[in-house]
Amino acid sequence: MKQEIDWKELGFGYIQTDYRYVCRYRNGQWEEGGLETDATITLSECACVFQYAQTCFEGLKAYRTVDGRIVCFRPDLNAARMRSSCERLVMPVFPEEKFLEAVRMLVQANADYVPPYGTGASLYIRPFMIGTNSVIGVKPAQEYEFRMFCTPVGAYFKGGIKPISIRVSDYDRAAPHGTGNIKAGLNYAMSLYPITVAHEEGFAENMYLDPATRTKVEETGGANFIFITEDGTLVTPKSDCILPSITRRSLMVVAEQYCGMKAEEREVFFSEVPEFAECGLCGTAAVISPVGHIHDHGRDIMFPSGMEEMGPWTRRLYETLTGIQLGRLPAPEGWLMEI
Ligand code: PLP
Ligand code: COI
Repeated sequence: MKQEIDWKELGFGYIQTDYRYVCRYRNGQWEEGGLETDATITLSECACVFQYAQTCFEGLKAYRTVDGRIVCFRPDLNAARMRSSCERLVMPVFPEEKFLEAVRMLVQANADYVPPYGTGASLYIRPFMIGTNSVIGVKPAQEYEFRMFCTPVGAYFKGGIKPISIRVSDYDRAAPHGTGNIKAGLNYAMSLYPITVAHEEGFAENMYLDPATRTKVEETGGANFIFITEDGTLVTPKSDCILPSITRRSLMVVAEQYCGMKAEEREVFFSEVPEFAECGLCGTAAVISPVGHIHDHGRDIMFPSGMEEMGPWTRRLYETLTGIQLGRLPAPEGWLMEI
């Protein structure tokens, strides 16, 4: 049962909830699947996930709306992105209908953990899949577990929505061979060293540049970039090697259809970054986190919006996106799945 949680003080951490969804793949098919109470997984030491990192994951949130409903934001896009991750990692695809049903079951069963409206917190949902049988030669597993757990969370970055400082990384975020566009644990393992260095040096995140030329902006360890020009054009990097952020794709629609802005997805050269009026990171966990400062090897780029407040365009995007997610503003057709 739920212990007392101080919703307003929540950071981005793991709190074990009562139920998780588990579905096993054996003999070439997915079993029925359902809720379980045991948060521990017991596997062979030789399971493919341990030896060859055959695992991928997703991240989405459930919100308590202004009128007391519980909704999830675009979970169909998480199911679709997980399909791409599975295909690239030679894992069986978990069907979209089953994925959405799992989200419903999980959130309903853990409804006590969905933070109240107005606390700034939400219920983070983490679907993932692992190769479970013993594999010693390099080849995909034959048995898998698809699992989904959830945990109530607050802001991803310390300080909530205050602007952060980031630094340009000398390392690549993802494993090589253009796999940066899938949500594989492997890519996050590659970012653990650079994020540790960034934190030690006092930065909240790394800006990764394209590995081939180191001239173009890609993304950070856990979020895509948005840049905004003085006259209100949202510019977001186009690259086949970054995670196709659901938040970023949504913000392009929000900018044009709700905020009277233009939206462009194109290559962004690092050399043009100082010309933008505002910069931010966007993602399920990050929501929109304003960036006030980018450190690049002894040089500093300070955005005019500064380190105290979000810039005016970023605020407009933030208020509109969260307004849609929390039911204060009408959502585009199909964006919210009611639980
Ligand atoms: N980029 C990376 C590397 C991420 O881990 C995430 C988080 O999911 C994002 C971008 C943002 O994607 P989304 O908006 O779908 O959460
Ligand atoms: C998410 O936003 O869902 C992510 O996966 C980011 C992760 C760094 C927590």
